[in-house]
Amino acid sequence: MKPLIVANWKMNPQRLVEAKRLFNSIKRRVRSSKNVEVVICPPFIYLATSKKQQATEIKLGGQNCFWKQKGAFTGEISPKMLKNLGCEYVIIGHSERRRNFNETDKIINQKIKAATAIKLKPILCIGESLEEKKRGRTQAVLKSQIIKSLDKIGKKEIKNIIIAYEPVWAIGTGIPCNIETAFSENLLIRKIISQLYTQSTAKNLRILYGGSVDSKNAIGFVKEARMNGLLIGGASLKAKEFIKIIKRVNKA
Ligand code: PGA
Repeated sequence: MKPLIVANWKMNPQRLVEAKRLFNSIKRRVRSSKNVEVVICPPFIYLATSKKQQATEIKLGGQNCFWKQKGAFTGEISPKMLKNLGCEYVIIGHSERRRNFNETDKIINQKIKAATAIKLKPILCIGESLEEKKRGRTQAVLKSQIIKSLDKIGKKEIKNIIIAYEPVWAIGTGIPCNIETAFSENLLIRKIISQLYTQSTAKNLRILYGGSVDSKNAIGFVKEARMNGLLIGGASLKAKEFIKIIKRVNKA
């Protein structure tokens, strides 16, 4: 299983030319990194251009999707539209969406069902807030998010789902989770999945870490915390830094 390195550009950059430039500089330097799978998730409006620039080394993903494939839903983008445009992945349930758009585990569950129905691979984001961490609620929060988000998701569908552990307090703060904690949450997530499905499903599940990842700490999450990849925000907007992460993980 190759480590998966996912760039989440969020609501950046501000101009199409900048998006093209960023995509190209990543593309140019990613060629030699055959031991990692790289996914870029630009804002929706840059996806079509990114598709034209895409090389086989880079895959595309959406940052969100709606839970229906078509219809009168002003402002929404369906999983099918993403798939038809060439996306292979979609980020679902990012904490910024949970917080700013009131996305609940039930909504996230519907989105996962809509994505897996057309074989678009969801990257399900879970993670505790600082408050929950301080109250010692991390394990309970992760368990509840997983159980509710995966409600009635079958054993065939779960094989196409990736879970990203992203502690909310680590996102965009420059304070990453420590490696030991990341490792124990990795084991916890696998344990919950093995209880819901089977041990082999849990073993084969891809779990990513996200939250203040940079070129210095990336290796620790992959090697020591045994994460199957990384979900990267801020550092994915700086081509050099992002490539450094890819190269280091590629060599690890
Ligand atoms: P960050 O964001 O790398 O800027 O902390 C990660 C994310 O939100 O997925």
